[in-house]
Amino acid sequence: MTVRIRKQIDLFKGWPNEKLLPPRLLRDAANHTLSQTDPGTVTEILEYGDDEGYRPLRNSIAAWLTRFYRPKETIGYERICITGGASQNLGNTLATFTDPIYTQHVWMVAPTYYLACRIIADASFDGRLRAVPEDEEGIDLKALEEGLKNSKPREGATIKQPKPWRKLYRHVIYCVPSFSNPSGRIMSLRRRQDLVRLARRYDALIVADDVYDMLQWPSNPRKPKQTLEHAYMPRLVDVDRELDGGPIDEFGHCMSNGSFSKIVGPGVRTGWAEGTPAFAYGLSQTGSSRSGGAPSHLVATFLHNMIQTGTLQDHILNFLQPEYAERYHKLMAAIKTHLLPLGLTMPQPGKDVAGGYFVWLKLPGRLQADNVTEKALERDVVIIAGPKFIVDGDDASTQSSFKQNIRLCFAWTDKELLGEGVSRLADVIRECQRDIEGMAA
Ligand SMILES: Cc1ncc(COP(=O)(O)O)c(C=O)c1O
Repeated sequence: MTVRIRKQIDLFKGWPNEKLLPPRLLRDAANHTLSQTDPGTVTEILEYGDDEGYRPLRNSIAAWLTRFYRPKETIGYERICITGGASQNLGNTLATFTDPIYTQHVWMVAPTYYLACRIIADASFDGRLRAVPEDEEGIDLKALEEGLKNSKPREGATIKQPKPWRKLYRHVIYCVPSFSNPSGRIMSLRRRQDLVRLARRYDALIVADDVYDMLQWPSNPRKPKQTLEHAYMPRLVDVDRELDGGPIDEFGHCMSNGSFSKIVGPGVRTGWAEGTPAFAYGLSQTGSSRSGGAPSHLVATFLHNMIQTGTLQDHILNFLQPEYAERYHKLMAAIKTHLLPLGLTMPQPGKDVAGGYFVWLKLPGRLQADNVTEKALERDVVIIAGPKFIVDGDDASTQSSFKQNIRLCFAWTDKELLGEGVSRLADVIRECQRDIEGMAA
């Protein structure tokens, strides 16, 4: 008897495959930085740093983002604060710019990046997270405005004392505007502008996780291979900076939450936040940064070297973009061959640029994602079912529970297995369809 051992194919894990990590580039940057002959230079970076982060990195990030996003005005270093990555910075942002009483709700685009829910709940918003649906252009502003209008101020005195370096916002809006996790959607420019106007009207801080912006490629596989040097869409923070005469107060209404996790490696746990200079400074005054400076000080020096020498930009454009594009197209080719004929659908099918890590699919008929996910595991395919992406604890709204959605990630598993993973999934779906038809008969 021959026993066939099948390799498990993981389309769940949202991590970069090890082949997408740049250990050599980081080692070169670290060697260069740590072997500088001026003894003061090395010991300086082993000490605590500035609250706002390593100044040379703030400068190099500002110049790099200016080239990538092409805002009307140059981005200055005073708009940048170095962070311990997007997750840590979400926590810090809420710690500094919200109050458990004064701030009424945190509005999250649903389906949402589920790991953000705990961070928000920990900042004392348990039970006050609210889901906002998405349509083909991104966040549904009618639903959001309705919610904002009906949200009542909480009784009791504001807990946090006024501080000159910060303001407290009435609301927070959390979204992933480009190549969203999990839906892969891109928020349209018009929607971005209207969202900023709404945030200003209701004094809401928009936290935009812009962590996938640089991982983008033409979505048409027949188009000649092309690297995309400039952002497909302005960030919400750029919109807030430029729209209708610019921010309406010195702190503005949007923060861009950037991260090196997907473009260098999650292990570096370093990122940056961009906002108005007052916002960036206020963020740097969060207690844990104030206590000895921004996180990731040493790693910040390596990343600065990578940007200054251009190795990071080269890695993104000439290695990551083509690699991720190839993975995406392999997955999509298999989806078109095996899944779309079974009736599965996906959002924004006609978009001309794709990016990020994920493809979000809707199952046809009465198929249930939990059932499909369970059966897929029996065939050694790991996927994640839609209900994981609901906004935690939002029992008041009638949010969709995404019971018919699944998310596939093309970043983690070996690229040669992506097609096989989708074909096994198609077998599972056919089997589930037969079961349903059998029950109906
Ligand atoms: C939307 C989004 N935000 C934040 C993160 C995590 O970022 P970091 O590693 O910088 O904390 C992820 C990672 O999957 C993500 O998808």
